[in-house]
Amino acid sequence: MRIYAHRGASGFYPENTMVAFDQALKAKSDGIELDIQLSKDGHVVIIHDERVDRTTDGSGRVCDYTLAELKRFNAAKTWKDGSEFHPIPSFDEYCAWVRTTNLVTNIEIKSSVIYYPQLEKKMLALIKAHKIEDRVLISSFNHLSLLETKRLSPSLPCGALVPESGLVNAGYAIKHFGFDCYHPAYVSIDQAKVAECHEHGIAVNVWTVNTMEALENCRRWGCDGIFTNYPTVARAYVDSL
Ligand code: G3P
Ligand code: CA
Repeated sequence: MRIYAHRGASGFYPENTMVAFDQALKAKSDGIELDIQLSKDGHVVIIHDERVDRTTDGSGRVCDYTLAELKRFNAAKTWKDGSEFHPIPSFDEYCAWVRTTNLVTNIEIKSSVIYYPQLEKKMLALIKAHKIEDRVLISSFNHLSLLETKRLSPSLPCGALVPESGLVNAGYAIKHFGFDCYHPAYVSIDQAKVAECHEHGIAVNVWTVNTMEALENCRRWGCDGIFTNYPTVARAYVDSL
């Protein structure tokens, strides 16, 4: 079962920052999950929300700031009382770092609230420029973004993110749409649903697995991967089996 550090090792470090990604590497995660959006001047940036307010000391929409302006905000404002400065990473700088590791990256395209034209294209250009095509997995709640990714780059694996309500006959449906993985919420799955996906050759990666009970069930049900804020705990559990 592959362990993805959700927004990096975000349980103890500021989400979607290079310090959280570096801690995910130190925790011996198999991969990192991160979220991408587009800046005003067309740079792919790593941040979960469409606004900078929750995670940084700035205010306003990501798409209304240039990369240089976004870089001035502290993305670690809620960590150590904001005593350390950690900027919003660009996807370009992340790729330059991750290519020096063995980590797989699950890139979540955040395009459900604001649809950013060109985001898929720009993401793919950076993946190609940094030669990490064989170590990425693309996901989105907006399945049109996955269709666009597949259209531009058919060989890249795509995982369909689905809200807590889940999907009926998920394996059948996801195979039908030409995607590779099902990314359900933990609360929406059970052993039979995982088995149905596997019958259709669809891998199951589950979010967000932050309790021992969820970790044990995902392992028992044969899930292929989990997203967790606590990769150190998940690694210790998986290695103990
Ligand atoms: O990819 C799983 C998970 O990250 C999806 O939800 O809101 O944490 O991006 P969210
Ligand atoms: Ca995410």
